[in-house]
Amino acid sequence: MMGFANGGLCILVLSALAVACIAGNFYQDFDITWGDHRTKIYSGGQLLSLSLDKVSGSGFRSKKEYLFGRIDMQLKLVAGNSAGTVTAYYLSSQGPRHDEIDLEFLGNLSGDPYILHTNVFTQGKGNREQQFYLWFDPTRNFHTYSVVWNPQNIVFMVDNIPIREFRNAESIGVPFPKDQPMRIYSSLWNADDWATRGGLVKTDWSKAPFTAYYRNFNVVSYSSPSPVSYNASQISTAGRLDASNRRRLRWVQKYFMIYNYCTDIKRFPQGLPVECRRSRF
Ligand SMILES: *[C@@H]1O[C@H](CO)[C@@H](O)[C@H](O)[C@H]1NC(C)=O
Ligand SMILES: *[C@@H]1O[C@H](CO)[C@@H](O)[C@H](O)[C@H]1NC(C)=O
Repeated sequence: MMGFANGGLCILVLSALAVACIAGNFYQDFDITWGDHRTKIYSGGQLLSLSLDKVSGSGFRSKKEYLFGRIDMQLKLVAGNSAGTVTAYYLSSQGPRHDEIDLEFLGNLSGDPYILHTNVFTQGKGNREQQFYLWFDPTRNFHTYSVVWNPQNIVFMVDNIPIREFRNAESIGVPFPKDQPMRIYSSLWNADDWATRGGLVKTDWSKAPFTAYYRNFNVVSYSSPSPVSYNASQISTAGRLDASNRRRLRWVQKYFMIYNYCTDIKRFPQGLPVECRRSRF
């Protein structure tokens, strides 16, 4: 068994791969990028909070860069009336041809659902949005949000359930993130011009400061960039999804997906992006 879900031990036996395991400590692993005192670290580095008030949001980023790996973070999102706020959690490289793997949590009025907005940029080009409702209230407890990034695919997971797969489609001309190491970033900011019901619902500043919490950061990084084959039962979703994960992905996409660029024919009158023509995901 691998212990990355609960903050400690990692045992991996993978030939031809150097595997590094990091049990998270926010002091050691991250730098505060903006918002000064609005980022707080507690419990000796085990817990971090970001906050947003009328003056500023806040953010942090990882000290290290990663090239392939499984990255887990537990988040507890802004509770109550979070309309207008966005909690962004993403991986990104730098420069005009950067790659990026995005999760953005769009807040809402009390009792109305958050939207989890996802996107993948390759070589500076994005426009690959998929959006989801969650099957739980993400403000009540911590939940685990993961990115599993392999040479073959990128899998987004929520509480270990795959919600999105972006496959390597280089063979049909779609660039795949595989050369540029990425940092992990997160920020909490005001986006009431578009975030909630397309910008109709504004941030209620009388409820500020808005606060989101982070804990149990874990990375299993595969330091070898060359394509390898994985033992699927050792890293549950590395490489191709197995049958049971594929069923779970279909369940999420059937009941919780509210937007998929791959079916947005109006947006792409010239034809859907190539990777959409090959698979539904
Ligand atoms: C907010 O709630 C409304 C009404 O239920 C819903 O249409 C919308 O998708 C929810 N999420 C966001 C971020 O607007
Ligand atoms: C994969 O890992 C599982 C669990 O460790 C093991 O039982 C199985 O034999 C491995 N399969 C291969 C092909 O190595």
